[in-house]
Formats: sequence, C-alpha cells, structure tokens
Amino acid sequence: MVLVQSPNSQIRPITAQVNELGHLTVGGFDTVELASRFGTPLWLMDEQTIVEAINAYKQGLQGYQDSLVLYAGKAFLCLAMCHLIRKLQIGLDVVSEGELFTAGQAGIAADRIYMHGNNKSEKEIEQGLKYGDINIVVDNLSELNMVASVARRLGKKARLLFRVIPGVEPDTHQHIVTGHADSKFGVALEQLNSLIETAVSHKHSIELAGLHAHIGSQAHELKPYFEYIEILADLYKDIKQRFDLEFSQLDIGGGLGIAYTENDETTSISNWTSAVSSRAASALRKRGLALPKLLIEPGRSVVGTAGLTLYRAGHKKTLPSGITYVAVDGGMADNPRPITYQAQYSAAVASRMNASLLEFPIALAGKYCESGDIIVKETYIPAETGDLIAVFGTGAYNYSMASNYNRTGRPACVLVGNGQADVIIERETNDDLLRHDRVPDRLR
Ligand code: LLP
Repeated sequence: MVLVQSPNSQIRPITAQVNELGHLTVGGFDTVELASRFGTPLWLMDEQTIVEAINAYKQGLQGYQDSLVLYAGKAFLCLAMCHLIRKLQIGLDVVSEGELFTAGQAGIAADRIYMHGNNKSEKEIEQGLKYGDINIVVDNLSELNMVASVARRLGKKARLLFRVIPGVEPDTHQHIVTGHADSKFGVALEQLNSLIETAVSHKHSIELAGLHAHIGSQAHELKPYFEYIEILADLYKDIKQRFDLEFSQLDIGGGLGIAYTENDETTSISNWTSAVSSRAASALRKRGLALPKLLIEPGRSVVGTAGLTLYRAGHKKTLPSGITYVAVDGGMADNPRPITYQAQYSAAVASRMNASLLEFPIALAGKYCESGDIIVKETYIPAETGDLIAVFGTGAYNYSMASNYNRTGRPACVLVGNGQADVIIERETNDDLLRHDRVPDRLR
C-alpha cells in the first residue's frame, strides 16, 4: 500500500506499513494500539531494521579477511540491545562505566568490547581490565600511563589502540566532527611516535594492537574516509619500519549518516562498507603490510532508522503572523537533537496515514519550556488535536541523550520483532523522579 504521508523507505523502519484502518504499522503492530497500550510519548524500535543494518555491515565486510563490526553503544544502549548484539555476534564500543556494566549484564564477550573516551577514570580502566580481555582505545599520554599502572597493579596486560587525529573532516554539523586538528579526541599525528615509545617502555603491561580514528558523525561522502585510511596506512608502514611493530588491528570508527528527510542523501550500508574496507585492504597491501583485523564502529546507521517516536498531538493554535503550531506531548527532553544540532525530522499522522497533506506548513512544537523546542519546523502533515504523530529516524541519540528537563519522566521504549511487542525500557514515573531526592531536616 502507498504511504501517502510517509517518508520514503530509507527514512522509516523497513517493516512500516499502513493497515486497512489507515494506521501506521511497524513490525506488524498497529501504532495506534501500541500507543493506547503503552502510552505516549513512546520510543518504538523495529528489530528487523536493526538486524538488517548489522547484516549489511557484515556483508560489506565480507571481502576483507578478518573484521568485526563494533556497534557504538552511545547511539542507543540498554540491556535488550546488548543481548541483541551478543546474539548477532558483533562487538561493542563503550564509553563509560555504565555502558560497560550494561554490556557485562548481557554477557558480551570481553574481547569484543572496545573502551573509548577521552577521560577514562582509573576506576573505569580498572573495571575494564577486570571485565577480562577487553580492548582499550587510549586517547592521550596521561591515560596511557594510567592504563599501564592499573594493568601492572592488577598483574594484567592491557590490549590498546591509540586514537589519532587524522586532520580530516567530514561534511557534517560542527558539534559532531571529531577528526579536525584541534579535536578534543585523540593524539596529534606529531605526538604519536612518542606515545608509541612510552607504550613500548611499558611492554610488560601493555600490548599495542593498533590505531583508531573516527572523524565525525552523520557523514555520507566516501572521500574523507578514503583520505584518512591512506593516512592510517602510512602510519602503519612508518611504525613498522621505525619500531618493528606490526599492528594486529585497525579501527576506522563509525559515522555513516542516515536519511532524516527527503532531502538527505541515502547510502547503502553494504556498498559503503565494502568501499571503505576494500580501500583499507588496498592501501595496506600497496605498502607491503599484512592486513590487520579491520574494525568499524557504526552507531546511528544501525539504530537510527529503526526507531520512531509516537506522540499525541495536543493543542493547536494559529498566530496572527500565520504560523500554526501543533504541540505534541514530548519534545526536547526525549529528542534533544533539533535544539542541539538543528536536526531535521520527518513526521506523519500515524492515526490517519491516508489523509492528504496540507497546502500550508505547520510546526510540530515540543511541550518543554524553551522556544527552540520545535521537533519539526515545517511539515505538511494534517495534524489535529488528538492525532497520533510519528516522528521517524529517532532510534539513535534520542533515548541516549534524553533528559528529565521540566521534571518529566523519560518515555518507555518498545521493541517490535518476531511478532511481539515488548517494553525494553520502562517509562519513568513520578516516583522515579523523586528516587534520588533528599530533603535536609532543616527544610522539613
Ligand atoms: N566511534 C566513535 C569513537 C564515536 O565517537 C562515535 C560517535 C561513533 C563511533 C559512532 O558514530 P555514528 O556511526 O553513530 O555516527 N550526538 C550526536 C552524535 C555524536 C556522535 C559521537 N560519536 C548526534 O545526535 O548527532
């Protein structure tokens, strides 16, 4: 059936359809029923879209002899997601104690965990090393010395990669580029040799396995990836000659973008992955190097399109200036991306998918106390009070960046898959909001 209001198939979950009632369905479930069963706002994740994205990454890497997909947990992580990662036999990029703990509770194998971050604490490093044979992506010299000393104290040998700043930038929002020369992440190329010397001096407590670079997020062009792959290959060759050190791993980060609106580019995951992995293979071979294990760290492109948010439309008003606002029962607390990055989204009236589009646009406003809390600035969907609204592409960096702004509980998250709809994250209640509050006696 044609999705009259729905964005194209690159923007919505692959199982999205419209049923005979004109309702949006995902994973075979009527979103109107899901909303009345689980309430709104509701984050909905489609398992099949996630699994197919991961399989597309695996497929794209098939031409490369030894590789591993590391899902970047910062995009969306919870216990159910970790179990899915374990079942799909991929690895996980974690950046905090909390992400590592969640991975541990789901039994993700230590050697598939990569611990990132530019300011790991001694406690986090210790927890990492106690977890088992994990991989630590070291950001700077001070951290290198800290890892060496914790490893020595625990009688362990830590496997490390160094994060380097390749000086290459993708074409994306300034807040989500990381590969530029003055990035807060990683080691400048000029400083790398001295870090390697230090690592070699800690050889009893440290195994140096390779280099890592991640240049940014929501990128579509292959060119910057090709550029820094060449830079990394040069470094591998130079390090081999200088230190007689042949790295066993090469981590090229994540960053592949997704389509949020009809104007966005769409990129096939498997084509993109096959292009970057074959470029890595040829760049290394050209320099006479053996191929290390290739790691790739996608986050957004694994979960972004799998997710959508269901909101209930509340009050509608038109100002004399002509602008019409339809306010929804959520906003920047469950999706901080529009206000943070001017991110754009596509929406639909999930309860009336076959209704015609408007002639003049309306704005979908959030309910939070900030003027910038607008989920979609201009949309032609015929939203009316009481309608169920779907905002697509919210699977990545929504739940993981959500807040309790205006003292509002975070929504629930439901995973649909295999003919089932399960709550994987419970809605926060008012009691949850009070759970950590304490009142000094003098105020009672
Ligand atoms: N690896 C590293 C070291 C990273 O820093 C990131 C993202 C990834 C992998 C995954 O990148 P992805 O495939 O998801 O683009 N909050 C921002 C995005 C921040 C990305 C941070 N690092 C947003 O909502 O757009």
